[in-house]
Amino acid sequence: MPEPTPRYATYPSLRGKHAFVSGGASGIGESDVRELAAQGAKVSFVDLDVERGEKLAQELNDSGAQALFQRADVTDITDYVSKINNAAEQLGPITVLVNNAANDKRTPFADVTVDQWDTEIAVNIRHHFFAAQAVAPMMRGAGGGSIINMGSITAHLDFPNLTGYVASKAGIEGLTRTQGREYGKWNIRVNCIIPGWILTEKQLEVVAQPGDIEKLISEDQKIPNKLYGEDIARMVLWLAADDSRNCTGQKWVVDGGWM
Ligand SMILES: NC(=O)c1ccc[n+]([C@@H]2O[C@H](COP(=O)([O-])OP(=O)(O)OC[C@H]3O[C@@H](n4cnc5c(N)ncnc54)[C@H](O)[C@@H]3O)[C@@H](O)[C@H]2O)c1
Repeated sequence: MPEPTPRYATYPSLRGKHAFVSGGASGIGESDVRELAAQGAKVSFVDLDVERGEKLAQELNDSGAQALFQRADVTDITDYVSKINNAAEQLGPITVLVNNAANDKRTPFADVTVDQWDTEIAVNIRHHFFAAQAVAPMMRGAGGGSIINMGSITAHLDFPNLTGYVASKAGIEGLTRTQGREYGKWNIRVNCIIPGWILTEKQLEVVAQPGDIEKLISEDQKIPNKLYGEDIARMVLWLAADDSRNCTGQKWVVDGGWM
């Protein structure tokens, strides 16, 4: 099994739990998968990227963890829910759900078409609702669970050309409150993480322009650190674990103090 980082906490309550992550083959989702597996959780994840997903699952299984990868497109709700149910059949009831998959594709405001708008909503928020609907009965049967929705700092700042993405991310905060209300009676907690700028491979290779990172750190973030997927995964671990057992319906900002 991969080892947890000695500098950081271990969570006995995660051992043996089945955690499911969408978009787990790369970026923050990959960090979530790795960190959950290092805590002894059984981890299933879906992604469009079959090559990376299979490689990650193989690596984790070779190291003694229990990991299951399936290809799924979270915008195809029927297929996606069938993959969630299949993961539960193989690894047991899902009691941690990390709604992470998203796409922050930029489109100039005036060029957004109806189809594009619908696609952006489908990839960025719709699946959060239906994945939770699919796992809630499992969590209820298991006596409770933790649903973690990935929001974004972009819903609180001033970002151009990200209309459907930002609208979805703002919606996820409201969705978190309504899900927290609906599911609380079954001891299912629902929380929203709001990441700042997290330097994933994609952000470094595709999004960041020269000087952007230095500017953010010197002018905007109050803590002068670069943030990585592991920084978000550690918040995921705490929200997934019993340590946060009385926290629900809330937002948890991990942004290095971006103000
Ligand atoms: N990186 C950041 O700076 C940042 C900031 C704020 C919020 N977030 C949020 O964190 C989460 C992860 O972001 P990231 O930066 O790791 O993204 P990423 O683009 O690096 O990774 C997203 C993963 O989701 C997968 N994916 C995309 N569309 C999919 C689909 N339709 N079906 C299944 N899988 C799909 C991708 O293949 C990829 O593996 C997202 O919800 C994002 O909005 C990220």
